[in-house]
Amino acid sequence: MRSNLPKLLLLACFSLFLVQCKGNKVDVKVQRGLVADSAMVVSARVEASAIGLSILKKGGNAFDAMIATDLALVVAYPFSGNIGGGGFTVFRTADGKVGSLDYREKAPLAAHRDMYLDENGEIIPGKSTLGAMSIGVPGTIAGLFELHRQHGSKPFSELIQPAIDLAKRGVVVTMKQAKTINNYRESFQKANDRTIFLDKKWNAGDTIKYPALARTFERIRDNGRAEFYEGETADMLVNYVQQLGGIITKEDLKKYNAVWRDPIAFEYKGYRVISMPPPSSGGVCVAQLLKSIAPYNIGQYEHNSAEYIQLLSEAERRVYADRSFFLGDPDFNDIPIDTLISSHYNKSRMHDFSWDKATLSSDVGHGNIDIVESNETTHYSIVDAYGNAVSVTTTLNGAYGSKVFVEDGGFFLNNEMDDLSSKPGIPNMFGLLGAEANSIAPEKRMLSSMTPTIVEKDGKLFMVLGSPGGATIITSILQNILNVTEFDMGMQESVAAARFHHQWLPDIIQFEKSFDTIHFEALRQKGYKLSQGASKIIGKVDAILVLPDGSFEGGADPRGDDTALGF
Ligand code: GLY
Repeated sequence: MRSNLPKLLLLACFSLFLVQCKGNKVDVKVQRGLVADSAMVVSARVEASAIGLSILKKGGNAFDAMIATDLALVVAYPFSGNIGGGGFTVFRTADGKVGSLDYREKAPLAAHRDMYLDENGEIIPGKSTLGAMSIGVPGTIAGLFELHRQHGSKPFSELIQPAIDLAKRGVVVTMKQAKTINNYRESFQKANDRTIFLDKKWNAGDTIKYPALARTFERIRDNGRAEFYEGETADMLVNYVQQLGGIITKEDLKKYNAVWRDPIAFEYKGYRVISMPPPSSGGVCVAQLLKSIAPYNIGQYEHNSAEYIQLLSEAERRVYADRSFFLGDPDFNDIPIDTLISSHYNKSRMHDFSWDKATLSSDVGHGNIDIVESNETTHYSIVDAYGNAVSVTTTLNGAYGSKVFVEDGGFFLNNEMDDLSSKPGIPNMFGLLGAEANSIAPEKRMLSSMTPTIVEKDGKLFMVLGSPGGATIITSILQNILNVTEFDMGMQESVAAARFHHQWLPDIIQFEKSFDTIHFEALRQKGYKLSQGASKIIGKVDAILVLPDGSFEGGADPRGDDTALGF
């Protein structure tokens, strides 16, 4: 009889590779992501990653690839990929220069503080989330042209062409995509007379073609930025929105501008974290969270242990309380950023934290500073062969935004107005509370949680990451930074690891369905309220890690159809 020993030895080695004791779990799969020597794109869809990579292969830089990837996502991932929404880009050039571009949507000129309230001052359900009144003035096309103007190396016409071809050729529907499109049928019907998404019940394997979107892209290719903000596309958008009872005008589109902003940059234990400033809360909150936990040396606890969950949750409780009070559009508010992200301030916020029992969120207000104050978004990360890195998060807010689909133009419009506070003190669709700083005013940019982030180590590029997930974006970014810097995980292992989230109110720690329940009883005994949804996922992180030999490891979140490609 032939011995099975060699086979068994091989199996044992393979199992050792797949199964490694990390934290409280013995069954964490240690997966290595795609490793590439020169350049990489990680995005929500393989078509978009492939188009971005094709630009890099032709000698384009990360900004060129970003534009091509972004436009490809409009076709391949209309759930969040958009020209009818907005976003943020954080970048680091090969010579170490960092920056960020804000192309967040703005409230229309006719917007006003009480626009979502009835005569009794109560919120009108759905008005800020579904249909024409929920739409903010889109910023994506302004953002792409501004990034191209400053950093692009190839003609815009060359960068938009692959998305035109893809829209004509069509995109094969994945299982996850079929499920979401069909789930939202009723909302599409409510928001529109007709859209291609209502043409039939879409199944995995079907091909959806976007001829109207291809024509819009061709007009943008031929006429430039003005096509979207002043041309035929602007007319289509405004006419359709107004026909549905919305308030966006040609004047709103004409006045839209993207804004360069100084990123939030701070040190954490030898790393330098560079992230998005307001109107995103992302960079400020991640800075506050890391500064809050730094004195506790989090790496001494097991990953996802009771202590780890407790410490992060208590920091999150305090930081989200601050978020709701202090943060909003910096063009409308004086935000005490330096104080908020200082070690001293965050240490003082943790003074009443006790290992013995949960702090009640009802006992946590915002900090005292003297001032004179969805899960449905998409992120992609790109590094090029020249050493540039871009981290981009872009959104329609909810899934397919307002569900308003400009049929003649072939694109969805956002429902970003819900990210402003319809009624200060009442939570939005992510359960986030907002205060005066984020109240509605004409031309105001709504507070966001999008956190495109870049991390440096020893002055060199180390990690590029970001996530969708509304309020959970910030805590997803925090956990991935800690996974890699404190728990030595690789990038794929990190993005796949189970996550949890606390956001002050509601006073609950939320866990993903895959999260090990082993410490739940200990946490409950300390007074924590826990929630673990059967289908819950927290964030979808697409990230790139620079390995010690200079190559890149991609982390493509297995929660979605996300894909890393490189060469
Ligand atoms: N609309 C999601 C965000 O901006 O955070």
